[in-house]
Amino acid sequence: MGLAMSETVDPADVPRRALHTGAAMPAIGFGTFGSDHAGHDVVAEAVRGAIEVGYRHIDCASVYGNEAEIGAVLREVQAGGIAREELWITSKLWNDKHGEEDVIPSCRQSLEDLGLEYLDLYLVHWPFPNFHPPGCDVSSRSPDARPYVHESYMKTWRQMEKLVERGLVKHVGTSNMTVPKLKLLLRDAAVKPAVNEMELHPHFQQPELFDFVREHGIEPVGYCPLGSPNRPERDRTPEDTNPLEDPVVVEIARAHDVHPAVVCIRWAVQRGQTPIPMSTRRKNILANLRAAISPRLSDDEMRALAGIDRSCRMIKGQVFLWKDGQSWEDLWDPDGEITPP
Ligand SMILES: NC(=O)c1ccc[n+]([C@@H]2O[C@H](COP(=O)([O-])OP(=O)(O)OC[C@H]3O[C@@H](n4cnc5c(N)ncnc54)[C@H](OP(=O)(O)O)[C@@H]3O)[C@@H](O)[C@H]2O)c1
Repeated sequence: MGLAMSETVDPADVPRRALHTGAAMPAIGFGTFGSDHAGHDVVAEAVRGAIEVGYRHIDCASVYGNEAEIGAVLREVQAGGIAREELWITSKLWNDKHGEEDVIPSCRQSLEDLGLEYLDLYLVHWPFPNFHPPGCDVSSRSPDARPYVHESYMKTWRQMEKLVERGLVKHVGTSNMTVPKLKLLLRDAAVKPAVNEMELHPHFQQPELFDFVREHGIEPVGYCPLGSPNRPERDRTPEDTNPLEDPVVVEIARAHDVHPAVVCIRWAVQRGQTPIPMSTRRKNILANLRAAISPRLSDDEMRALAGIDRSCRMIKGQVFLWKDGQSWEDLWDPDGEITPP
């Protein structure tokens, strides 16, 4: 690969999270959602760069549309000497595949595209079976959209459990869940979720959900760890804030002579979640990984960062709403109970 030592991180130095099964998951992963600005090949090359600099955990999803391109890279890196067991590969079941007969074939398709015999982790991407054309406007609604129905989710989950039984996936997990939904799943699941993937950055710390999952032996994986500064216009509202511009983050970054992004990643790893930043630039890809092994932030710095939570959710999920007149907040069970249909 021809990279000098200073341009790589030894994967053995990257901290790991012990999952309830005893498996060890690298405590930082690489995101693969190219949003609107990075094409599939660009993201696949970014994955290659990420593995070259030392990432071993890759966060994929069928809906990102790039698993085949990423699969080509994964085949090459394994042919180049990186063993399958050294990699942690996650994929996700998209919302249009919640049907009982669709889960296993959809997972098999991801496996085929990624060129793998098994996934380390397979997530139900959203708790709703609602979907929309990729790239559509936030005001777009599917006429078939439905509310969360626990019985339906459990039918999907039973198929997820079968994937574990069949050895196609090592762990199953959830994404975009809330405390009341997770309580029901924990009550009814035969195979417990190992991970909950959720938005987490200094301006959206979700303390209640974060504590809940950790108390129940579920590892929080944090998406949009930098607040997704380049997300599409359609995912922005005038109230949104930017953690990379927060004066506290900027000041800590200045004191350590790093970019504010590095502070966000360091904070995430040290707080106890597993951030999955995405970047198309080698410099940033490396800086984010280095943040995971850099010296600890002081207790005062961690306290200051804990104090800047703005409860500012960037990925609101509007397209998954199921009836007119709803607010996106309804998707997130704001009253602590599952929002009624
Ligand atoms: N489960 C879910 O529902 C869900 C939802 C959203 C996202 N995700 C996952 O989470 C991953 C991360 O989220 P995200 O990509 O939206 O947001 P993000 O990681 O918070 O931000 C990514 C953006 O930050 C920039 N960036 C990265 N490192 C930087 C650095 N060191 N300095 C300056 N800028 C930097 C990148 O631009 P450059 O390319 O210019 O560096 C990129 O556009 C996704 O790729 C996806 O895998 C999951």
